[in-house]
Amino acid sequence: MRLIIHPDHERASRWTARYIADKINSHGRDKHFVLGLPTGSSPLGIYREFIRMNGEKKLSFANVRTFNMDEYIGLSADHPQSYRYFMMENLFNHVDIDPKHIHILDGMAKDTEKECRLYEEAIAAEGGIELFLGGMGSDGHIAFNEPGSSLNSRTRIKTLTSETKAANARFFGGDPSKVPSAALTVGVGTVMSAREVVIIVSGRGKARALKAVVEDGVNHMWTLSCLQMHPKAVIVCDEDATEELKVGTVRYFKDIEKDAIESGV
Ligand code: GLP
Repeated sequence: MRLIIHPDHERASRWTARYIADKINSHGRDKHFVLGLPTGSSPLGIYREFIRMNGEKKLSFANVRTFNMDEYIGLSADHPQSYRYFMMENLFNHVDIDPKHIHILDGMAKDTEKECRLYEEAIAAEGGIELFLGGMGSDGHIAFNEPGSSLNSRTRIKTLTSETKAANARFFGGDPSKVPSAALTVGVGTVMSAREVVIIVSGRGKARALKAVVEDGVNHMWTLSCLQMHPKAVIVCDEDATEELKVGTVRYFKDIEKDAIESGV
């Protein structure tokens, strides 16, 4: 696992956006690029960079197929807090992606099991995910794979923890009781099946989880620690998120990733 530490969130976002844009641009026009995407505040700076690069014709989504990580149960596509709405507002409405190539789980699906099964089949039909971009919850979760989730899990329904509902209440007028109690989410195994995983982490609020994920062992209580078993995983973070890491760990990754950081932005 790589850990790329930037002085602040803005630089971490710019570096990540450029890293992913390079992958998309060098993929070759003849085959499409399958990109997994998250919601939340963590990827917003990356999405702004994607939009800017797209406007300047430095990055095109014409050849990109996307699969989002998760969706709240019971929120329709036009609900301002649904993840579909979030993605349209913060990325898709502003870039040259073909709407047919956008995949987001349907939180209103009557048969949720079928919805999840079809989602996994759709990913497989596209040849699997080339790069899964993600964020991390303050309890170390990836997508909505809350503590205790199977590290082999695939797309399914998950109940949200009080910590996650409290963290996401800011999008629901500050009231955790308005946050849906369940979501459809790709599994840890779904993320692990991607050929590359890139995670953006920022702020002191994520420091405890980042320590567990980077320094402690693989553990279902911090589901993102699964990345230790992934052949190609990158965590990009800001200084604040490294607060709980050992000084030696920070020094090690800064040294080994010096060139990557300097060549970035
Ligand atoms: C939710 C999402 C995750 C996201 C996490 C952190 O739980 N399902 O995909 O990583 O929130 O959100 P934020 O980036 O706003 O801290």
